[in-house]
Amino acid sequence: MSQQVNQETSAAGGVNRRSVLAGLAGGVASAGLLAPSAAAGTTGAETAGRPERDQRVEALLGRMTLAEKIGQLQLVGDETTARAALAGGRLGGVFSVVGAAKLNALQRIAVERTRLKIPLVFGLDVIHGYTTNFPIPLAQGASFDPAVAGTDAAVSAKEARSSGIHWTYAPMMDVTHEPRWGRIAEGYGEDPYLATRFAVAKVRGYQGNDYSAPDRVAACAKHFVAYGGAEGGRDYNTVDVSLHRLHNLYLPPFKASVEAGVATVMASFTTISGVPAHGNGYVLHDVLKGAYGFRGFVVSDYTGIEELILHGLAGDGADAAAAALPAGVDMEMVSTNYARFAERLLAERRITRDQLDDAVRRILLVKVRLGLFERPYVDEATEVKAPSPAALAASRQAAARCMVLLKNDGPVLPLAKGIGSVAVVGPLGIATYDLNGTWAGLGTGAGTTPPVTVVDGIRAAAPGAAVTYTPGCTVEGTDTTGFAAAQQAARAADVTVVVVGETAAMSGEAAARSTIDLPGVQQQLVAAVAQTGKPFVVVLVNGRPLTISSVHEHAPAILEAWAPGVQGGHAIADVLFGAVNPGGKLPVSFPRAVGQIPIYYNHENTGRPADPANKYTSKYLDLASGPLYEFGHGLSYTTFRVDGLRLSSTRLPARGGRIDVTATVTNTGARAGDEVVQLYLRDPVASIVQPVRRLRGFQRVTLAAGASTTVSFTLTPDDVGFYDNAARFRVEPGKIEVYVGTSSAATLSASFTVG
Ligand code: NOJ
Repeated sequence: MSQQVNQETSAAGGVNRRSVLAGLAGGVASAGLLAPSAAAGTTGAETAGRPERDQRVEALLGRMTLAEKIGQLQLVGDETTARAALAGGRLGGVFSVVGAAKLNALQRIAVERTRLKIPLVFGLDVIHGYTTNFPIPLAQGASFDPAVAGTDAAVSAKEARSSGIHWTYAPMMDVTHEPRWGRIAEGYGEDPYLATRFAVAKVRGYQGNDYSAPDRVAACAKHFVAYGGAEGGRDYNTVDVSLHRLHNLYLPPFKASVEAGVATVMASFTTISGVPAHGNGYVLHDVLKGAYGFRGFVVSDYTGIEELILHGLAGDGADAAAAALPAGVDMEMVSTNYARFAERLLAERRITRDQLDDAVRRILLVKVRLGLFERPYVDEATEVKAPSPAALAASRQAAARCMVLLKNDGPVLPLAKGIGSVAVVGPLGIATYDLNGTWAGLGTGAGTTPPVTVVDGIRAAAPGAAVTYTPGCTVEGTDTTGFAAAQQAARAADVTVVVVGETAAMSGEAAARSTIDLPGVQQQLVAAVAQTGKPFVVVLVNGRPLTISSVHEHAPAILEAWAPGVQGGHAIADVLFGAVNPGGKLPVSFPRAVGQIPIYYNHENTGRPADPANKYTSKYLDLASGPLYEFGHGLSYTTFRVDGLRLSSTRLPARGGRIDVTATVTNTGARAGDEVVQLYLRDPVASIVQPVRRLRGFQRVTLAAGASTTVSFTLTPDDVGFYDNAARFRVEPGKIEVYVGTSSAATLSASFTVG
């Protein structure tokens, strides 16, 4: 396939850039090694009505002028530009304009005043809520319960569609090993399997079976691809990635999302092994549209096509368009290189009519599937402008489900409901919008109800308690003069809740940090409270893993609350007072120090694995090896035992085989609680060295005190195989080790043989 594609490009006189990586792969696609995904584009919803839809698109395409076709490729981000583009009849969609009335007004121009009456598609970054903010995606990953993401998506879709939004720029599914990278908040952490399960749940939650429904939206898998590999964690930075990492680490959530029928995909801002994603035909054309069989459209990221000039792939805008369209970017966001140069590029044979038609066809198909031709307008009377009680309840439940109890000596937690007094200390104790975290949808706009603060949540949960609030310091400032008052408050109270962490603006896009300590003097504030000798608990509000070795040393209890959303204060209080027994697990490793980064559980072994007794092994001289808290770690107010590991067979046939793995989990404590039973695999000898462990199954169960249940996982050759450096999926014969337990440090093990 890639050979054919290359010939086509050369015939058009274009620069054949998209085969660069394919060349590196030794002609991956041409050799048929990346076989089209069996499931791609064949979900029930996709297949039903496909011939009619295709015919409709073809009929429309046949009637379009060149200018009208090029117009469909343009997406703009404000009303004024939209109106100007519409006046010339050259516009495909609009994003970041909100409000049913405004959107209907724009749509009216497209549908009533343009020749072919093709409706606009309206997009928005609805990332973890529209009017109702849910916890940030990283927090959702910590729930180890994909239904949490499904609920967020379904609630958001309903709210957004009611106000005229058809298309969300979510889910972000960028796997990353970089906690300095602010966008770690928007994804599901360091593991491709976990990210895949959440990405698919979110796509399904947004789109349902049919995204033309009045309570669904089209989803967008982003950012394609390897955006999470940005060097040094600096946003937009270069990524240099081997083919095996690309296919094993970064691509799996995208592949699965295509199989789940995701409507659109967004290109990544980064360069991938020398070729920026927006001009990278290997990833977009050969892998996404070729091997995966993706039939939706690819949208550029914000000015991503124009940025090919600064990347150094294109000399000017025409060059940029000539690289992006053949590579597979169908719609241009904000910059206007397709609109300005496509006609000329066609005349110069640097792009082909087929390439243009293919892009238009894909955009029209999504518009048809959205039902926009039948229902271009939204009913302004039923627009959702504020969270409903049901949505708030769902958000509160989700937030509590995402919290991770990192430490609980004593145990300090849960707090007694009848406690006499609570001192809330720390700059985030009365935080409102910071609890929403990055990309807070409409939830931070004028007139919106601010999130519930931790102080208010505690007051509501323990109405009989005297609750004081003392900030102690600000999030980022260096002033410690407030510490004395904080210590005084702690001394006067039965327990102190220290709420520290990051503001919402410290994670998300363009929010990389060079250190990931608690900002400002918050770490010293925790130490100052510890000096009082009184019991206290630290609640962390943050959008990324933090280096909290000092907090771990000083604090008896630490609750990771992330950016919990609009009901944050209530959800935190639910967990502090035990109305909810925490059951979340870390979707990312927490390093001991920033110098350990990248640190991730699914690393490959070296020839000299860390050994404290041997200097000549892979480690730092000045730091203990391993993370402070490992991937999958999380405590509960009760205790669990996992035992009775059994495999249905000790041999997995490489073709069509299956092994059932079962284990028993028992609540050995005195209260009901949740445990996440996790299954990891290790392939100790392979032609490409394999991660020391990789997650291939998890199940969150709720058990009454003393109760036990059997959890089971099914393994197939897909679970033990991997992509090699020619992007070829291999299932190799040999031994596979299985580990089952309550974190990535699980010790209960068994093994089987493949082949
Ligand atoms: C840039 C971001 O990278 C992307 O995730 C987002 O969807 C667009 N801007 C649109 O806001």
